[in-house]
Amino acid sequence: MPLGLLWLGLTLLGALHIQAQDPTPKLIPAPSLRRVPLQRNFQDEQFQGKWYVVGLAGNAVQKREEGQEPMYSTTYELNEDRSFNVTSTLLRDQRCDHWIRTFVPTSRPGQYNLGNIKSYPGVKNYIVRVVATDYSQYAMMFFRKGSRNKQFFKTTLYGRTKELSPELRERFTRFAKSLGLPDDRIVFPTPIDQCIDD
Ligand SMILES: *[C@@H]1O[C@H](CO)[C@@H](O)[C@H](O)[C@H]1NC(C)=O
Repeated sequence: MPLGLLWLGLTLLGALHIQAQDPTPKLIPAPSLRRVPLQRNFQDEQFQGKWYVVGLAGNAVQKREEGQEPMYSTTYELNEDRSFNVTSTLLRDQRCDHWIRTFVPTSRPGQYNLGNIKSYPGVKNYIVRVVATDYSQYAMMFFRKGSRNKQFFKTTLYGRTKELSPELRERFTRFAKSLGLPDDRIVFPTPIDQCIDD
């Protein structure tokens, strides 16, 4: 037992030490929305359905060992008021996790806010933009989430299938880099079957 306590103490000290060294890890600043295109003439009905997250990049994304990032899926269901119910399905600890939220349309077609934002502690603003899509193969998305003192942003490459052409992946990488994201913040999740196939 004393050894266990000692370990705990050392671990806590270690954690404190790391915090003292780097009190606020620097985030890559979120780009101005002027640098984020919006799909012209966005068609919400055609956008519905399931998308696989083929690429993911953001200032809170960290590339891990090859194959350590399982693919997840996100399904968009259109409500009568033109909001989307958005459900992401992720494999976590050998179980399927579902994460549900609502995207509320703004006056600009293809741009959304998070519904019921008050129920997300610390989230002050949230914006979603459909950057580009052909509805049948791919979509590029932009998300920005602001809290009191931090702005997180990410972009995703959605595919109707788990694989997309090298050209689309390259286009996504170029877009991520145009937002200031380096290679180690850009990942291409590994296709899996569990959870995301139903
Ligand atoms: C969206 O979610 C709400 C609340 O759970 C539900 O009542 C509604 O039927 C859902 N809409 C669609 C299109 O599935």
